[in-house]
Amino acid sequence: MTTSAELHMYLEEQRLIVENALRTVFSADWPIPGKLLEAMNYSLLAGGKRMRPIFVLAASAAVTNAGDATNRALPFACAVEMIHTYSLIHDDLPAMDNDDYRRGRLTNHKVFGEAMAILAGDGLLTHSFHVASQAARRGVSAERTLAVIEELSRLAGVPGMVGGQVDDMLGEQGQTSLEQLENIHLHKTSDLIAFALRAGGHAAGADVRQLNAFELFGRNVGLAFQIQDDILDLTGDETKLGKPVRSDERQEKVTYPYLIGLDESRKRVVNLTKAANESLLQAGLANPNRLIQIADYLLTRDH
Ligand code: IPE
Ligand code: IPE
Ligand code: MG
Ligand code: MG
Ligand code: MG
Repeated sequence: MTTSAELHMYLEEQRLIVENALRTVFSADWPIPGKLLEAMNYSLLAGGKRMRPIFVLAASAAVTNAGDATNRALPFACAVEMIHTYSLIHDDLPAMDNDDYRRGRLTNHKVFGEAMAILAGDGLLTHSFHVASQAARRGVSAERTLAVIEELSRLAGVPGMVGGQVDDMLGEQGQTSLEQLENIHLHKTSDLIAFALRAGGHAAGADVRQLNAFELFGRNVGLAFQIQDDILDLTGDETKLGKPVRSDERQEKVTYPYLIGLDESRKRVVNLTKAANESLLQAGLANPNRLIQIADYLLTRDH
């Protein structure tokens, strides 16, 4: 089998593991209003690429392939996908990017109305912390689980993704510099990806050097990922992306292609991926190759 066929099989298998776990995050015993559950699951189970939870599982496997490593890391994988999904629901709202399609279907607010979409996001966000805490009931130590929850509240939170979304919203064409844009992308996108990698590391008992390497890898892969998202907004195919193209132009957003052009943006994606991969090599990881393969594969993504 070619490396690329093997990687596709691996990604598909990991995606299914994540999706099966996501189907069970809301306990049938909890009295959740039916409409809320429907709205949360509408977006959560709409079938994204699941890159963040796959990074959790791949980081854990990079540290150790011990039999139940996936099982231990799964609560963190689900938690990060729940946070990511809530961020997309809110990002698409009329008050933010005002988009009508996401993951190949109408956006949450188009189907359930703005009030329910806001609450579905709130529900996913809040419940993600419950889900993350359950790692301590699956063999991750209480101390590591606490560390992950602390990191989640920071990296997904006010100095992290939420802060990045605020600066993204305040950014203005003709005003925002490249340095400021890099900072926006690092917070709105890299922080959650860096979290995913560190969380996988914690689940597998990574040491500080390994956690730092994961963080640097996540920072650079995350920046590359968001620059590519900006590029695909201009050059991508709406059907493949499952979301509208040229949304950034409509909203007069500051993006990498807007500031430095498409060619220079593409070069940066390649260089950031190289830098990301290098950071994994000196960290004493048992199996860094899978993460490197995933980063290289993302270079060719069209959705
Ligand atoms: C879209 O993320 C938003 C960004 C931070 C770039 P993804 O491209 O990972 O979206 P899904 O999860 O596959 O839908
Ligand atoms: C979103 O960036 C980043 C988030 C934290 C949700 P974008 O606004 O560019 O993401 P898309 O293009 O709508 O997926
Ligand atoms: Mg946005
Ligand atoms: Mg958007
Ligand atoms: Mg975008």
